[in-house]
Amino acid sequence: MAFFKGVPVAISGTGMYVPDRVLTNEDLSRMVDTSDEWIRERTGIRRRHIAEAGELTSEVALKAGRAALEAAGLVPSEIDMVMVATNSPDTLFPGVAPKVQGMLGAGRAGAFDVQSGCTSGVYSMALAAAGIASGIWRNVLVIGAEVLSPIVDWTDRNTCVLFGDGAGAVVLSPSCGNGRFLSAELRSDGTKHDQITFPGGLVENPASHETVEQKKHYVTMKGNDVFKFVNRVIPPFLRELCEDSGLSPEEIDWWFFHQANQRIIERAAERLGIASEKVFINLDEYGNTSAASVFIALSEFVKQGRLLPGQRLLFTAFGAGMTYGGVIYET
Ligand code: UT7
Repeated sequence: MAFFKGVPVAISGTGMYVPDRVLTNEDLSRMVDTSDEWIRERTGIRRRHIAEAGELTSEVALKAGRAALEAAGLVPSEIDMVMVATNSPDTLFPGVAPKVQGMLGAGRAGAFDVQSGCTSGVYSMALAAAGIASGIWRNVLVIGAEVLSPIVDWTDRNTCVLFGDGAGAVVLSPSCGNGRFLSAELRSDGTKHDQITFPGGLVENPASHETVEQKKHYVTMKGNDVFKFVNRVIPPFLRELCEDSGLSPEEIDWWFFHQANQRIIERAAERLGIASEKVFINLDEYGNTSAASVFIALSEFVKQGRLLPGQRLLFTAFGAGMTYGGVIYET
């Protein structure tokens, strides 16, 4: 069952930042044995934005966070909590969020990272809404930020064509009028924890010459297993999430899927009977930005002037763990 219903918490601002540098499918076809045609047909991705060498996750997060704060009309001292959803933190500790909180000068805020695969963005949005609804916090800055490029193996065509760097952010605040989170459901199937991993450098595989030689310091993914898992689990999960919220899939105005693969999104939409015009897609431009993807999608949607009062938006993601989840928000 969805863990809350109709909490008066509003998205009061959105923002995003992606690095200027673009890597096209053509560029990749000169780096590994792949082609523009294969990548487009299998994933829908055409381009992705890649951070400059040395550009940190905390830096891209800060830029998106500042934009969201400005859109919300808040100053950093009004923020009670900074959450950063990321799978590519600058360092294991400190987290990215404390660095961002410090750079913002959000002197009254706490800060922590949410790291649960690509679902981290949806997890953190739900957590922030629940925290505001229960009175722990008032204004929460939630940022999804990834600089995955340094931890992607650029010789592995199975993964390197998929990912991009970037950040998106939302400010959540108590609602004064419009805006409420209708429901959230966060799940995991940890029996499949070996499907997407970054195995090197910690307790299981402490850094050594061997772990470097064995390429354990890169993202690994059993792509086709993930593909099958998501196709099997996500459509019925989303139907259940809607039903638990007293809605049918047709009553959702806009669907914001984790931007992993256009084929996954289209299959899910087909199984749920969702019209393609209600599905927001921007993975063609940004690739899979992991925890940042739903925030970047929402931010672009807002920038395009498409966010209107009375809309129901559904955000859903899936990723390493295997975690998955969904949140329904009414504007
Ligand atoms: O964000 C976290 C969640 N992640 C996802 O949702 C990713 C889910 N998985 C996928 O999106 C898809 O599985 C991929 C796009 C990663 C791969 O597509 P697929 O249709 O599942 O392909 P596959 O892995 O079954 O591979 C089919 C063939 C293989 O060749 P053989 O064995 O049939 O000769 C691969 O070696 O395609 C080959 N291949 C490539 N060929 C050209 C794999 N990557 C590439 C490539 N270019 N980049």
